Amino acid sequence: MHEAHLATCHDGLPAKTDDDALNGGPRVGPYRLANRVFVAPMAGVTDRPFRKLCKQLGAGHAVSEMAASNPKLWATVKSSRRIDHTGESEPKTVQIAGGDAAMLAECARFNVDRGAQIIDINMGCPAKKVCNAAAGSALLADEDLVARILDAVVAAVPVPVTLKFRTGPNRMARNALAIAAIAERSGIAMLTLHGRTRADGFNGYAEYDTIAAVKAAVRIPVVANGDIDTPERAAQVLATTGADAVMIGRAAQGRPWIFREVTHYLQHGTHRDGPTIGEVRSLLGAHLEDHYAFYGALTGLRTARKHIGWYVAALPGGALFRARINTIEDCDAQHAAVDRYLVGLGSDADLLPAKVSPEPFLEAA
Ligand SMILES: Cc1cc2nc3c(=O)[nH]c(=O)nc-3n(C[C@H](O)[C@H](O)[C@H](O)COP(=O)(O)O)c2cc1C
Repeated sequence: MHEAHLATCHDGLPAKTDDDALNGGPRVGPYRLANRVFVAPMAGVTDRPFRKLCKQLGAGHAVSEMAASNPKLWATVKSSRRIDHTGESEPKTVQIAGGDAAMLAECARFNVDRGAQIIDINMGCPAKKVCNAAAGSALLADEDLVARILDAVVAAVPVPVTLKFRTGPNRMARNALAIAAIAERSGIAMLTLHGRTRADGFNGYAEYDTIAAVKAAVRIPVVANGDIDTPERAAQVLATTGADAVMIGRAAQGRPWIFREVTHYLQHGTHRDGPTIGEVRSLLGAHLEDHYAFYGALTGLRTARKHIGWYVAALPGGALFRARINTIEDCDAQHAAVDRYLVGLGSDADLLPAKVSPEPFLEAA
């Protein structure tokens, strides 16, 4: 099915070499992704400013937050921000979610008309808001519907379509292998698999055996996702699953430099230093200004608070500072307070202090 589309996308591209396998990311249609370490789509987190920052700091691929499949929602400010890719590096990838094949196909077309170069379908989100409408990972229980959706979206757009999903609806019904086979037959160009079932939510630990089984069973690239929070974990997951890339979500919140740390480790087998205080002042300062410009002062001030909270959560005095930042009602004052806090941690040339919290995922979901 849809072989013509795949053949066109892959036509004439040279075979992968050993060097590519080490440094280059997987190929998705006509695009070679920059490396093997991706930032995960996270609604309310991976907006355009944060995606740009993650890519600047080494993420090889970024997927935008979900765009609703319901056309009535496209005109809302929230949706229009989610599909605004101005200045973003290629390939611009938009995630869509929904439970209706025709509506999703229409949504995919709408996004491609507005510049999306890859469409990613989300069947991996356990959020009630999404799953109650039989979308996200709730879909996984209905394999016929999955096939209809994937066929419809792949047929609707001339760009590659990728799929992000979980290992199944629940542990008694892990059907990732069946879904992967359906996806490959439908012409899906890459799979991202989070090693939890829908029923797991974010509980317990991700398991990677199912990801390894899927990777062994399909010929399209597979991206491993779930609980990857250190360079060592990334290397281990790549090695044990054979996946073509890893995707990092929560561990990048407030720590976008994790991407260059992981890519450095994968390439050299050694650790690179974390950022200096001076560098974080500059990175975080630029992130805040980009954030205010993207959302406007009113919304920007409020939504920047959670990012600031993540940046400082594991730093000395971070909890106290975070409480204070929530009382500041002006963007300039917020930016200045963040800068003063960072200056208080040491000189610009000092490395950012190591985490004081042993738990990286306290802020999750
Ligand atoms: C706040 C938050 C929002 C998320 N939103 C989405 C989303 O919009 N689409 C999606 O496919 N996954 C979403 N996810 C799931 C992540 O992409 C990822 O699969 C999950 O967090 C596991 O990866 P991690 O352990 O590296 O965080 C979200 C996760 C979090 C924590």
